[in-house]
Amino acid sequence: MSRSLEEIREEALKTINSSDNLEKLEEIRVSLLGKKGALTEILKSMKDYAPEERPMVGQKVNEARKLIEENIEARRNNINHLLLTEKLKRETIDVTMPGRRELRGHRHPNQIALEELEKVFIGMGYQIVEGPEVEYDRYNFELLNIPADHPAKDEQDTFYITKDILLRTQTSSVQARIMEKQELPIKIISPGRVFRSDEVDATHSPSFHQVEGLVVDKGITMADLKGTLDCFAKSFFGPNTATKLRPHHFPFTEPSAEVDVTCFKCGGKGCSVCKGSGWIEILGCGMVHPHVLEMCGIDPDVYSGFAFGIGLERVTLLKYEIDDMRLLYENDKRFLEQWV
Ligand code: DAH
Repeated sequence: MSRSLEEIREEALKTINSSDNLEKLEEIRVSLLGKKGALTEILKSMKDYAPEERPMVGQKVNEARKLIEENIEARRNNINHLLLTEKLKRETIDVTMPGRRELRGHRHPNQIALEELEKVFIGMGYQIVEGPEVEYDRYNFELLNIPADHPAKDEQDTFYITKDILLRTQTSSVQARIMEKQELPIKIISPGRVFRSDEVDATHSPSFHQVEGLVVDKGITMADLKGTLDCFAKSFFGPNTATKLRPHHFPFTEPSAEVDVTCFKCGGKGCSVCKGSGWIEILGCGMVHPHVLEMCGIDPDVYSGFAFGIGLERVTLLKYEIDDMRLLYENDKRFLEQWV
């Protein structure tokens, strides 16, 4: 028997030390030391030996077992070490490689322009308020002096949801809401999205943005309106910008005007951008119509006010010299990345 034990041991050491992966090593361990393993079999057959031989056989088997276990353990460490070395080699980082640039989000030019614009008005003491995009006909038209049969309703092709509920066509709807509920004096701007069933082209879109302005107090005059808008234009477009009020008509203001600024491109001389006139229109405005004040519960004999509505896309295009409004909506990264 000692010879066969000897053989088993030699054979075992050879296979252990030539095995090159952990699974194979485990198989070897089980085949030698497991329940049905070669060494275990010898211990099981102990009863076949003479009683005086048994201690010696037992000791030899135990020695062999210990030796085999030690060798397996050593081989396992060895294989683990090799695996780790290989893995580290595979995963080496070349610190001289250029890094991958993180793509960070950034503000849209419309948003940048809006924040600039808000800064100017906050500086003049205005509050910023918001109104709903889905609006009642009452706020979008009726309280603004545009009753059901008024022709001005045709100028703003409206998306109706029901007969009385619509997508607001102008942020002027916020004027009526504020005058109805807010205590006087009022000094607000209200930026937001508006909707009209327009075809898309270089200057039109079915959804765009306006910034409404409204001031109501005792003794407000057209001079306040003119001064405010001139200050806005100079802060927003640059100190050399001049403004001009052109008489116009809006149902909710009287008198009404449109405001032009000197062309950013030619400075007022006349060029292709301003179609030779030297001026570019940026907003509508006027003194709040006494009837509008009255409908909103404000006494027009005591209070007066002015209002204006700025086309946000329009001033964004002018400020950044963009010649097509569609660029603001198409999300072409080559365009938008210029504002990173
Ligand atoms: N709501 C008008 C429009 O969409 C713009 C406007 C004109 C607003 C005069 C005003 C205003 O507040 O006073 O064309």
